[in-house]
Amino acid sequence: MTAITELVSFDVEGSVGIVTVDNPPVNALSAGVREGIKGGIIAANKDDAVTSIVLFCNGRTFIAGADITEFGKPMVGPSLLEVIVGIEGSSKPVVAAIHGTALGGGLETALGCHYRVASPTAKVGLPEVKLGILPGAGGTQRLPRVVGVPMALEMIAGGAPIGSAKAAEVGLVDEVIEGDLRAGAIAFAKKVVAEGRPLVKISDQDEKLQEAKENPAIFDDFRKSIARKTRGFVAPENCIKAVQAAVELPFVEGLKRERDLFVELMGGEQSFSQRYFFFSERLAAKIPDVPKDTPLLDINSCGIIGAGTMGGGIAMNFLQAGIPVIIVETQQEGLDKGLALIKSNYAATVSKGRMSQTAMDKCMSLLSGTIKLEDISDVDIVIEAIFENMEVKKEIFQKLDAICKDGAILATNTSTLDIDEIGEATNRPESVIGLHFFSPANVMKLLEEVRTKKTSHTVMATCMALAKRIGKVPAMVGVCEGFVGNRILHRRSEQATALLMEGAMPADVDRVLFDFGLPMGPFAMSDLAGNDVGWRIRQGKGVTSPVADAICELGRFGQKTGSGYYEYKEGSRTPVSDPIVEDIIVKASKAAGIDRRDISDDEILKRCIYPMINEGSKILEEGIATRASDIDVIWVYGYGWPIYRGGPMRYGDAIGLKNVYETLLEYQKEHGDFFKPSALLERLAKEGKTFQDA
Ligand SMILES: NC(=O)c1ccc[n+]([C@@H]2O[C@H](COP(=O)([O-])OP(=O)(O)OC[C@H]3O[C@@H](n4cnc5c(N)ncnc54)[C@H](O)[C@@H]3O)[C@@H](O)[C@H]2O)c1
Repeated sequence: MTAITELVSFDVEGSVGIVTVDNPPVNALSAGVREGIKGGIIAANKDDAVTSIVLFCNGRTFIAGADITEFGKPMVGPSLLEVIVGIEGSSKPVVAAIHGTALGGGLETALGCHYRVASPTAKVGLPEVKLGILPGAGGTQRLPRVVGVPMALEMIAGGAPIGSAKAAEVGLVDEVIEGDLRAGAIAFAKKVVAEGRPLVKISDQDEKLQEAKENPAIFDDFRKSIARKTRGFVAPENCIKAVQAAVELPFVEGLKRERDLFVELMGGEQSFSQRYFFFSERLAAKIPDVPKDTPLLDINSCGIIGAGTMGGGIAMNFLQAGIPVIIVETQQEGLDKGLALIKSNYAATVSKGRMSQTAMDKCMSLLSGTIKLEDISDVDIVIEAIFENMEVKKEIFQKLDAICKDGAILATNTSTLDIDEIGEATNRPESVIGLHFFSPANVMKLLEEVRTKKTSHTVMATCMALAKRIGKVPAMVGVCEGFVGNRILHRRSEQATALLMEGAMPADVDRVLFDFGLPMGPFAMSDLAGNDVGWRIRQGKGVTSPVADAICELGRFGQKTGSGYYEYKEGSRTPVSDPIVEDIIVKASKAAGIDRRDISDDEILKRCIYPMINEGSKILEEGIATRASDIDVIWVYGYGWPIYRGGPMRYGDAIGLKNVYETLLEYQKEHGDFFKPSALLERLAKEGKTFQDA
């Protein structure tokens, strides 16, 4: 065996030269890997004993992608494009042996090879679009030449990988190899030589492009089909343009076009934010003061208290992860209703073809219910999801303390209550934690985990790992009113309401925030969630909100009653502005002695968003969140903040904290201390720094 570089070796077995990449954990295409592959191919071509070449990777995967830590840094060693040209230009056939995942640059490398074989569990794809870029090493030019334009568009602009079987069906993989992949690939390479098969250079192939050449409407049809899903993103359009170039231009020209479109994205704010978010999500799983080797508790059963909106959704996450769930209700009727709802939710998923009947049956077999709290005495974790009332929750936790086995995790799904206080109601506050799921709990990715002053490291580490197991993205925060997500949301809601009083209408505010990239504006969101929820909370606290209260007094609770801030036609979820609401708003302004004025879109945006950034800054200052990026993870996964804007804190950094700070100062002068910049924001703005430096 000869080492070409530290990460790539070359050896010869009979007539087959084997270039082996060994760059754990995922064989990323670092400079040493690129240089090694290039050198390996040259060495194989020089070696007279070699008649064919296999590109193989050690460890758990083929080249899983680019080394994204190299992004934005000066290029060292050969570019991937250069490496691929070397492979494709080899005078001896090169066979890529794919296992694990061949993604991005990994698949582009494989596309440079003359043949591809794969293990049955391998996955291949070009997911660059998810980082706001496109495959920039020929992927957009070669893939359509192999799988045809429609499929290439799906894979490149959508970013989802496909499995071996599908890849073989569409000709992306030449053979699926059961058993030993390395041996199978060597045998395949020998077969290619023995049968005198051609050196298939994908760049020379044009046949699969014909369909799109004859029907250029393919591209616009595809654009329309993804428009809703990709609203606001710039990368998908560049992906489409690159594939279009494969059809319209000769290969070499197409490559140049791909490069230009790639460079345009790479230098843009969106891909910066999307790459930032990629790292943020991974970082959020780490809690600095909890050692990495903290022992984890075994979680093999879960008790959920309350079979309402949240309890049912939470249960589904555990069932799908294969963890048995017992749900507790107070009355048999409520329990039956809750269990039936879970079943009907699964049945709906099955009928849409998104789940198999077998998978549904398995989930349902893991679910049971009871009206006796004692029945959950043996579970490893309890999640309480009963209505929001401190006294009732404390009582439940005292009972759990008496009933549950030692070491069981006692979690609450409260959205507003002081979890320190709940923990203190037990004799084991170290076992108490907040697991704040978002509605619908079986769909939303975020799990905001809330540590109390006494939550143990073991409980925190176990709950972070558990989140991953049940398909959630966790972020750990501390106790404060509304925790991180809702606390920031409240600042925005307050401004949205103030804007109504000063001159805007719900549709103005909602339009500006929708155009900014959020899934919906605050008033459409309130109509969806139910305006009565906030109304009851205000009544409980003895506070008023003239517009919101007047709307609720008319029974306009939102979509569920057919009207709220908007009107909804029977069976429709489309909000329609309603003169009755506009009249309520105008009268409320008058009663408060406010002269209504025209408010610009720019002001609406800043008044809603800058206080969110300021609140995030206070949260950081107080140590409630560990990092600004954790706040961003919460807002992207919990509230649909557009990932291409990174999150509210990243957005603040992007537009400049000095701008945010100065605008807040102006608003403070005009509207009062609600806008007072936090000390941290002031310091960072004055020092010309970002939240990443905080
Ligand atoms: N709905 C949301 O969007 C949302 C989001 C995040 C968190 N939360 C929090 O989740 C919790 C539950 O909210 P929800 O919307 O599911 O409420 P819900 O009213 O839909 O369900 C609560 C259920 O708990 C049952 N229950 C009440 N007392 C009980 C007891 N002692 N033992 C067993 N069951 C009991 C009720 O019968 C009811 O079925 C609240 O703390 C809420 O703040 C709600």
